[in-house]
Amino acid sequence: VLKRSFSSSAGRAAIKHVTVIGGGLMGSGIAQIAAQTGHDVTMVDMSEDILAKSKAYIEQSLSRVARKKYKDDPEAGENFMQETTRRLSTNTDTRDAVQNTDLVIEAIIENIDIKQKLFSGLDNAAPQHTIFASNTSSLPIKDLAKSTSRADRFGGLHFFNPVPVIKLLEVIRLPETSDATFQSLVDFGQAVGKTTVEAKDTPGFIVNRLLVPYIMEAVRLLERGDASARDIDVAMKLGAGYSMGPIELVDYVGLDTLKFVIDGESRWNESMPDNPLFNPSPMLNKLVSEGKLGLKTGEGFEIRMK
Ligand code: NAI
Repeated sequence: VLKRSFSSSAGRAAIKHVTVIGGGLMGSGIAQIAAQTGHDVTMVDMSEDILAKSKAYIEQSLSRVARKKYKDDPEAGENFMQETTRRLSTNTDTRDAVQNTDLVIEAIIENIDIKQKLFSGLDNAAPQHTIFASNTSSLPIKDLAKSTSRADRFGGLHFFNPVPVIKLLEVIRLPETSDATFQSLVDFGQAVGKTTVEAKDTPGFIVNRLLVPYIMEAVRLLERGDASARDIDVAMKLGAGYSMGPIELVDYVGLDTLKFVIDGESRWNESMPDNPLFNPSPMLNKLVSEGKLGLKTGEGFEIRMK
């Protein structure tokens, strides 16, 4: 009986209207792909000004998609742009934005207190059936779900940057997440064109749980002076077939972002104290304290070496 109810689609709600909270790098990408695939989308951020910028960014990205997808039919491309932007609205009032929504995807600043406050307010404002999901990379989903009374309708939708390009979506389920909720999240992921994988609510889910220790080991190799940054990157690109080396990857994502996960606000070093892979790195910490954060500041590991 259990098996049958799990594989059945009964009770699984179709997601028609999506509210994306946070119109930054990730939120604007999520809003774009949802609107592009026929969902009605409301994007929420703190000011009209931010939302205008997010919308302009989405329109730019959509016109690239349209040029590629409809290269021989500019009229169809124009229709695609118009239809997609028609489905996308913006709002600065979170409570108002969730009045008639099926799914809320939170993609605001990576701060537990601010996210909890948001979810607790949303819980009072959104209809009963609405599913809540967070796009957090490093905070426990369960700590967000507990600020609501709907843990059965709560999960994680972890997209990757740039959202319109990267095919993967990690769908995170809590022990409390109902089968119907989980299936709705997977269906939604597929509807927006992603390949979904299922992960439990453990630090880093799948991709970052493997990527972060790998990158930290590369940093330690460099720190010990066992190999140069260039040689580490060349070795992993040519020897392991990775498109980017680990050191250039840190420069790309930001040294501060890596520190944030290890011994910054996410404190993986404290949550997994017996695992030396998550020990802080003095070299990383020194560079961050000097404001050398990688590409965004023009100096980092590799960039410094050049
Ligand atoms: P971002 O800084 O580009 O955007 C965050 C947006 O949220 C900003 O526009 C900000 O004005 C808005 N915001 C902040 N507090 C708000 C509130 N209370 N209500 C409404 N809007 C609010 O950040 P980004 O990079 O888009 O990250 C967002 C989330 O996505 C974070 O949880 C992060 O961990 C996660 N994530 C980030 C990835 C990345 O590569 N940047 C990858 C996967 C997940």
